Amino acid sequence: MKYLTAENMTGGYGGADILHSCTITVEEGEIAVIVGPNGAGKSTAMKAVFGMLPLREGRVTLGGEDITHLTPQDRVRAGMGFVPQTNNVFASMTVQENLEMGAYIREDDFADTMAQVFDLFPILKEKRNQPAGELSGGQRQQVAVGRALMTRPKLLMLDEPTAGVSPIVMDELFDRILEVAATGIAILMVEQNARQALNIADHGFVLVQGQNRFTDTGAALMADPDVRKSFLGG
Ligand SMILES: Nc1ncnc2c1ncn2[C@@H]1O[C@H](COP(=O)(O)OP(=O)(O)OP(=O)(O)O)[C@@H](O)[C@H]1O
Ligand SMILES: [Mg+2]
Repeated sequence: MKYLTAENMTGGYGGADILHSCTITVEEGEIAVIVGPNGAGKSTAMKAVFGMLPLREGRVTLGGEDITHLTPQDRVRAGMGFVPQTNNVFASMTVQENLEMGAYIREDDFADTMAQVFDLFPILKEKRNQPAGELSGGQRQQVAVGRALMTRPKLLMLDEPTAGVSPIVMDELFDRILEVAATGIAILMVEQNARQALNIADHGFVLVQGQNRFTDTGAALMADPDVRKSFLGG
């Protein structure tokens, strides 16, 4: 069994179902990427994995433990870190305060973890006393990722971490994400930059209308003519 197994998730926001028997899995130290068109249900699948959506059917296990009925807060305690697609930093709070907020469930000394985040993203150390709202888009995404790392998650979930950043900043962010994965953390990421994301992904999930359309290794998806034609621009 994979480290995260979210099987046959079916549900929505109270109206019609958005997810239809959607399955997402991630192994420890592995990068899994969810791609698909706008409105496919990628963010909804992430929210379902994180417990923000009532599922009518399906099951979520983390490290072999059934967490289907846990609240998002308890999932954080169980080892999940989630960076949502929007509003993922506190703009009026400083960089350091954002990171401290990230550590809210910890009662131990988190100074070491903050030092690790500053090692990973040196610019955040430099700007630690500035309000996060004054940072560039790419730097704000670093704050959001850093904040999620403050709980020392075993699974880090990122919804479009490179949205609105330049290609160079995207490459840098992907390099940092690879570094995080190399420490043994499982990464589950939604990406609009499908080609670049599948390039660094161990596994990919192509979602269409709330269903799994293609599931394979990143390399196999990149090589699949149907995937290329429909989802990677040829
Ligand atoms: N809070 C909500 N309440 C009701 N419906 C929603 C809500 N959020 C999303 N939806 C609907 O669920 C469907 C899937 O949306 P979702 O945001 O999961 O797509 P996505 O694949 O993440 O798209 P994007 O690439 O634009 O981020 C859409 O039809 C959307 O309108
Ligand atoms: Mg989305």
